[in-house]
Amino acid sequence: MVKRANSQQTNVNNKQKRGVETLCHSATADPLFKKRYMEKKFKRTLVTSALPYANGPVHIGHLAGVYVPADIYVRFLRLKGEDVLFIGGSDEHGVPITIKAKKEGVTPQDIVDRYHKIIKDSFKEFGISFDIYSRTTSKTHSEVASQFFKTLYDKGEFIEKTSEQYYDEEAGQFLADRYITGTCPHCKNEHAYGDQCEACGTSLSPLDLINPKSAISGSKPVLRETKHWYLPLNKHEEWLSKWILEEHKEWKPNVYGQCKSWLDMGLQPRAVSRDLDWGIPVPVEGAEGKVLYVWFDAPIGYISNTKELLPNDWEKWWKDEDTRLLHFIGKDNIVFHCIVFPAMLKAEGSFILPENVPANEFLNLEGDKISTSRNWAVWLHEYLRDLPEKQDVLRYVLTANAPETKDNDFTWKDFQARNNNELVAIFGNFINRSLVLTQKYYEGITPSRGELTDYDKKTLEEFVDIRKELEKYLEVFRFRDALKEAMNLARIGNKYLADTEPWKLIKTDPERVKTIMNLSLQIAANLAIAFEPFLPFSAEKLRGFLNINEFNWENLGKIDLIEDGHKINEATLLFEKIEDEVVEAQIQKLMDTKKQNEISNWKPAEMKAETTYEDFTKMDIRVGTVLECQKVPKADKLLQFKIDDGMGGRTIVSGIAKYYNPEDLIGKQVCFIANFPTRKLKGVESQGMILSAVNADGSLCAVSPSKQTINGATVE
Ligand code: MF3
Ligand code: ZN
Repeated sequence: MVKRANSQQTNVNNKQKRGVETLCHSATADPLFKKRYMEKKFKRTLVTSALPYANGPVHIGHLAGVYVPADIYVRFLRLKGEDVLFIGGSDEHGVPITIKAKKEGVTPQDIVDRYHKIIKDSFKEFGISFDIYSRTTSKTHSEVASQFFKTLYDKGEFIEKTSEQYYDEEAGQFLADRYITGTCPHCKNEHAYGDQCEACGTSLSPLDLINPKSAISGSKPVLRETKHWYLPLNKHEEWLSKWILEEHKEWKPNVYGQCKSWLDMGLQPRAVSRDLDWGIPVPVEGAEGKVLYVWFDAPIGYISNTKELLPNDWEKWWKDEDTRLLHFIGKDNIVFHCIVFPAMLKAEGSFILPENVPANEFLNLEGDKISTSRNWAVWLHEYLRDLPEKQDVLRYVLTANAPETKDNDFTWKDFQARNNNELVAIFGNFINRSLVLTQKYYEGITPSRGELTDYDKKTLEEFVDIRKELEKYLEVFRFRDALKEAMNLARIGNKYLADTEPWKLIKTDPERVKTIMNLSLQIAANLAIAFEPFLPFSAEKLRGFLNINEFNWENLGKIDLIEDGHKINEATLLFEKIEDEVVEAQIQKLMDTKKQNEISNWKPAEMKAETTYEDFTKMDIRVGTVLECQKVPKADKLLQFKIDDGMGGRTIVSGIAKYYNPEDLIGKQVCFIANFPTRKLKGVESQGMILSAVNADGSLCAVSPSKQTINGATVE
């Protein structure tokens, strides 16, 4: 059964993900990579970045994993004067979009129209410099994807199979995996989906679910036969193995490792059509009610968007061996870009294959997995509203902390620290001093250099190789390391000014200061080039301060970028300090989200077995007033109470210290069990137990009578 085969494959996938981490080899260290890179001179580079699903806005995880790295790379190539095209777009098909539409009572088209705009705007605001950002509901895309399918169909590249799939008789339709819920066979979570259990993370097939239910009508689905087209990946296994495992050893270890596990396990045929009413119709007879599977049409979107941009000239970008094709993606897309899409391209016959697929791992947020459904994310459009004009700060932090080789964590504290201690204190500080002093001493006119001292020469030596250093990393997609090099240049500048102290020398040796300021301006100009791929807005601002329209990459490392007598502009601050309140507000927002999630996920505790009145009367519950309350030393959970119990008073220790200020409880009435055996807690004798209610987040709240009551009153 085909469905069984799929289910095996998905379980394999779980194992593979775990297996990957053990593999490790460095791309730069790999001689094969050096050889290939040096030998093959490509004429142009086509960069694609994964098409995000248009069923929600984009968040920092998207930016860190895919779009910032792709943009850095593209800007780097453009600055070098290379022929490059950067293709993006929204992925507008697939089941989650139809589910969202149904929930909101609108059409899928309404959903994708809304989010395509939000996503496109966010990318634009963050400077992601696509040559085109289009969408898979475009006319061109539908034509190109249909044609692609047809070509494969006519060439006999598909196999047709009939299998049994769940069908909702009430709704009169086949059910996509996501539309079926049931009990997870592994962890018994009752709300698992047909493709995955979100409680334990296991990939599932609908047939694995115990008690399957249709998410549309709630009825029990039945199995019904349906015909689909499959891409027989098993037929492509041999060349794929050779192509990836032998000829692309330079791919990033996380990418190479995942491919290797897939190939080692053996490939299965994959269905490329679905029974669904949202998508591109399968363009063959007898396929009514069937559409192309979203993972079949979406990567073709790269091709159609290129065609939309260059209707007469697109083919050289896709069919000429002199084009270098690169796919920037997140790790969950690896198999589609390294195995499935290349198999499709090869089967079609006239397309080139990707040269590299620099996939990243995932970014977490404050220690938790980013999740759209739990609203655990920093949404780009909200970031811009809360921190206007700070695009580059986010670009910087996400690159410095990019999940290039393993999952990484974004925290607001780290965000603030990197802004204040690196962008402001090093880069910004150096630029500000250089420009302000030049204005102050020379009215903004670049002074000429005199003879260089040994210290000047030593400083220059530290950065003559900056271009090579940056290239070394950028060429192999190691953007964090490249950014470190760029920041290091700012450090060199900052140190140079701190060590030479022109503000002191200006009185004693004004000639020397001319040289210092000239060199500082040259370093500032170098910084404008080095940071351009990473922080395009700040680089532009800096060029404005320096009164220079354009630099090119070749100039990096030189010290004649600003001519003697060149007039620079008045400068403002390049970066601003981010205050505690700003990040605290963001942290608070996330804590509110967490609370909200706890409340909406809260379920009442299971009912205990029936009890008797007699059992209840055995408990001596009473009311008392708190006379004293303090923390128990060396116990962060415990509070020690002195209670007026109407019987001479007693001491009770209770585990509610985390939820109260001790002073706030003094004078309050509480209920306690009076006939509890005496216990010693952290050396304090406790004579009873205070009753508390347990909140959704697990916090405790002491129970009081609703009116003032006499101390010692019984509760019954
Ligand atoms: N929409 C997919 C995701 O967000 C990515 C599609 S990439 C493409 O995971 F190649 F299909 F376009
Ligand atoms: Zn489970």
